[in-house]
Amino acid sequence: MSRLVVVSNRVAPVKEGKASAGGLAVAILAALRKSGGIWFGWSGEVSDAPSEEVKISRVGRLAYATVDLTPQDHEEYYNGFANSTLWPLFHYRLDLTVFTRQNFSGYRRVNALFARKLAPHIGPDDLVWVHDYHLVPMGEELRRAGFTNRMGFFLHTPLPAPEILTALPEHETLMRGLCAYDLVGFQTDTDLRAFHEYIVLEARGELLDDGLVRAFGRTLRAAVFPIGIDTENVVQQAQIAARSRQTERLRQSLVDRKLIIGVDRLDYSKGIPVRFQAFERLLEEYPANRGRVTMMQIAPPSRADVAEYIEIRQVLETLAGHINGRFAEFDWVPIRYLNKGFNRRTLTGFLRTARIGLVTPLRDGMNLVAKEYVASQDPEAPGVLVLSRFAGAARELDAALIVNPYDIEGVADALQRALEMPLAERKERWEAMMKCVVENDVTAWREAFVGALEAAPFMADEQ
Ligand code: G6P
Repeated sequence: MSRLVVVSNRVAPVKEGKASAGGLAVAILAALRKSGGIWFGWSGEVSDAPSEEVKISRVGRLAYATVDLTPQDHEEYYNGFANSTLWPLFHYRLDLTVFTRQNFSGYRRVNALFARKLAPHIGPDDLVWVHDYHLVPMGEELRRAGFTNRMGFFLHTPLPAPEILTALPEHETLMRGLCAYDLVGFQTDTDLRAFHEYIVLEARGELLDDGLVRAFGRTLRAAVFPIGIDTENVVQQAQIAARSRQTERLRQSLVDRKLIIGVDRLDYSKGIPVRFQAFERLLEEYPANRGRVTMMQIAPPSRADVAEYIEIRQVLETLAGHINGRFAEFDWVPIRYLNKGFNRRTLTGFLRTARIGLVTPLRDGMNLVAKEYVASQDPEAPGVLVLSRFAGAARELDAALIVNPYDIEGVADALQRALEMPLAERKERWEAMMKCVVENDVTAWREAFVGALEAAPFMADEQ
């Protein structure tokens, strides 16, 4: 097998066990731990005078290679084009999308910088696998520098329909960059369809047989590879965590109350306000739940320099305060709202304790918390997953209670149904979901993508 060179903006902390920064880093770490290779990306550090050298540290067969960003690059590339333009746009939030040429040029500058820094570490037979919206132009930069390696790209977020995507003034430049890869992977059919529509309607390209696409003077393959979790590991962690001190403390603090849990980065795409409102509605409509059900929302702050993230934090503080003030009793607080992260093992124990896993994103590429919730359950007494139809995971986990997160009353009804669901139905639904989480785990995902990339013949520019 050729060596894998993986590139992503976010690289997991080198020390294992630290709270992780979102689904991508956790999944890539799980995928690479087994295959080994190089993982190149941002160190997470911002420095006025970043070293010219790439920092390398090795853990087993995996080498981490990272670079620092200057304050200007961090602002224009990470806070700017990546997280104030592409992130909201790709999550259908045109109302939050900010376009500036300066940010776009910062984005291209950092992609060129990453390509220049990575170049000396790429061998002739290496497979290069670039991840996510921060780094779309990276492949094109490497091609420009003469690399003919097989290069793949995987988009962890949704790709919006052309009607939304074309609102980006630089959509053509971006999509031309995407077509510099040999293989482009998406989470769901909807994303692939959006890509095909763009290719045909906007780029005047062609869809050929076997998933091949011809556009911008190149031929590439585009396909769906739904990302998974390290299921075996999560199952083991959850079994250990079931007996941990923290899980025991959580259980004791609940005093026989049922727990509804949400775990998300504090992000407006995750639909956390909807969750709070649906819980409030549940307490209004089904008052027997008052004092008997607790909701715990774990929401570590994310991208805290970006205005929309400051705002969502304020919205949630107000909402949680309002609901707790309205319903709390001297011995029960309806919502436990925590702005901090926990390590994976502790989280699996919390997920296992919860009768309901509530996952209500307004849009989400996949949502790995939904899969982690399933894998963390006790097979003899599994809880119920309540899942937004707008999460990529809903395609696979259709045995969850699927909800429309814009329909607050509908989500409240689903919560009530989940609270009342008999054990036999819980088990039946859980078994169906678990089968899929076991079969399509992160190793299957890596193997499917890398296999397809190895098979994709390098097709030189046709222009
Ligand atoms: C999402 C994105 C990832 C990103 C993660 C955490 O899952 O698809 O690319 O790494 O969020 O966000 P952050 O900005 O902290 O890397």
